[in-house]
Amino acid sequence: MSVYSLASRRSRTGSPVVCVIAGDDAAPEVMRPTVEILRALVPGIRFVEALSGREAVQQYGEAFPAVTRRAIDEADCTLFGASGGPSRPVLWYLRWGKETYVNIRPVRWWPGFRSPMLHPERIDYVIARDNLEGLYPPREGNIAELAALSSSGSWWQAPPVEKAGAYAVRVSTDEQAQRVAQAACELALQRQAEGYAGRVTLGAKYSILPRTDGRFRAIVREAVGAYPGLSYSEYLIDDLARRIVAEPETLDVVVLSNEHGDILADAASGCIGGLGLSPGACYGAAYAYFEPVHGSAPDLAGKGVINPTAMLLSGAMLLSYLGYDEQARRLERAMRQVYLDGTALTIDQGGSAKTVEFVDALVDKLSL
Ligand code: NAD
Ligand code: IPM
Ligand code: MN
Repeated sequence: MSVYSLASRRSRTGSPVVCVIAGDDAAPEVMRPTVEILRALVPGIRFVEALSGREAVQQYGEAFPAVTRRAIDEADCTLFGASGGPSRPVLWYLRWGKETYVNIRPVRWWPGFRSPMLHPERIDYVIARDNLEGLYPPREGNIAELAALSSSGSWWQAPPVEKAGAYAVRVSTDEQAQRVAQAACELALQRQAEGYAGRVTLGAKYSILPRTDGRFRAIVREAVGAYPGLSYSEYLIDDLARRIVAEPETLDVVVLSNEHGDILADAASGCIGGLGLSPGACYGAAYAYFEPVHGSAPDLAGKGVINPTAMLLSGAMLLSYLGYDEQARRLERAMRQVYLDGTALTIDQGGSAKTVEFVDALVDKLSL
């Protein structure tokens, strides 16, 4: 049992400062209790709340005001709920503004998680997703602009430049591929020390996209090759999607491009029991921020029933990042207990507990 986090790059001394941005729709309903629990676990951390989205528009006239940007910059890291649209500019800043280049999304089943799988106990791996390139940020245009590109004769179709339509550009730099690969290797080593296989698995469409995905594959393969203790495997992305369902026990650290990682992280989350359970962390060289895999769950907003597990576990990853490993493990242990008991589970997990009832049960287990 462990909270997977890349080593903290925190350079400052003194009390750590965490910027808290609750986000949109139902996200504040999981953020509030998470911050309360983290505060109780580590009284030494200073949590600074900053507004975004509609509330920020009301108070400052814009969705991402300068005061919020300053709060992000002045903190050691940020805890972010989710954006349902209005808070997107903040998300863009946390990713591209702070260059948080790799998104780590642990995929792990615990007894009590309502998985649709027959043998969910086999699921315990981590997705390392490119957080900056690929199809994001969007670079789209009119199809006519493709006339300059060489046609692909063997595909029986030149770019249909005479037709109305649009294109999107997928970008990948060697530097980004290298640092994502490096992060995946570091994580695999860290997990290996805890008894995992020490295997990095790449999934990509290198058969059809040799210059982007093929290059990504070559770079990841080479990076893993520099670590004699690690093993490497690679699968076409469609086959990897099947393996996530059919043989998850073969996976340890899975490296994916931005959009592949986005999609497969939700699929992987579905395998353990749903989005309410899947945490995430985005690391850069000088900054990190933590957010669940799920979005703002607008369908649950205001109902008090959203599962706070993913947000709390993202909070545990934050504690690890700041060096509070013991407290992070304590939080995880208590959460496992809540799931083992099974009496205070939220609706998505087959229970009838409200968010606050789940949190009360957790507080009880933590003996806070
Ligand atoms: P979503 O993850 O918000 O919800 C998908 C489904 O999962 C819904 O049925 C929802 O009720 C359920 N769900 C999500 N989190 C849950 C939780 N903690 N407990 C219980 N059930 C939960 O995805 P969506 O509906 O496709 O997107 C809603 C909005 O969120 C969109 O605007 C999308 O762009 C955004 N989004 C933001 C982020 C982010 O900020 N990083 C991530 C994903 C989606
Ligand atoms: C995620 C989300 C985001 C993404 C959206 C909100 C841009 O789906 O964090 O998984 O696609 O990366
Ligand atoms: Mn997503």
